[in-house]
Amino acid sequence: TMGNPANIFWHENPVGKAEREKMLNQQGCVVWITGLSGSGKSTLACSLGRELQSRGKLSYVLDGDNLRHGLNKNLGFSPESRTENIRRTGEVANLFADAGLICIASLISPYRKDRDACRALLPDKKDPKGLYKLAREGKIKGFTGIDDPYEPPLNCEIELQLKDGIVPTPHEMAGQVVSYMENGG
Ligand code: PPS
Repeated sequence: TMGNPANIFWHENPVGKAEREKMLNQQGCVVWITGLSGSGKSTLACSLGRELQSRGKLSYVLDGDNLRHGLNKNLGFSPESRTENIRRTGEVANLFADAGLICIASLISPYRKDRDACRALLPDKKDPKGLYKLAREGKIKGFTGIDDPYEPPLNCEIELQLKDGIVPTPHEMAGQVVSYMENGG
């Protein structure tokens, strides 16, 4: 019967995300802009889209106001409607990102739980190859850091430091290595 999840199967797309990204020479992702009405979300979204366009990057803006003319036209502003508004938009944003586009979503998206749910749809940037996920599910055995050890060095020459609890950029880390080398001659 229609709508019974037991009878709905996932069909793998014959062309993968990586192939599309290669063709477009970019990585699909979502930039989610949240904020109060009138705070400038749409303006920022548009100038970001324009900037990316001028750099040859394909983007698409999903603006809350605009979506409410079509995809989300049956939704109002009750908490339930806003949650559904964000859920649908998150799903669409995820599809755009999977298509290889830089998707810019600008909606008030007032509730943290809804934003977190959208984030959870997207591939984990900290596990780009999905290997940790497979290891945690026991599908890869002997994975370093999960069920096989990683022994940090006890006396290393350089330890790359967090700055104010923030991971340095590769450029900053390279700077730390270079200054160690300079100081040590
Ligand atoms: S939400 O909360 O994320 O579902 O809202 P969103 O889809 O971004 O739509 C916000 C725009 O709808 C107009 N509008 C309201 N906003 C907030 N609360 C109420 N009750 C409301 N009624 C209408 C308003 O113009 C918002 O536009 P922006 O672009 O955010 O200023």
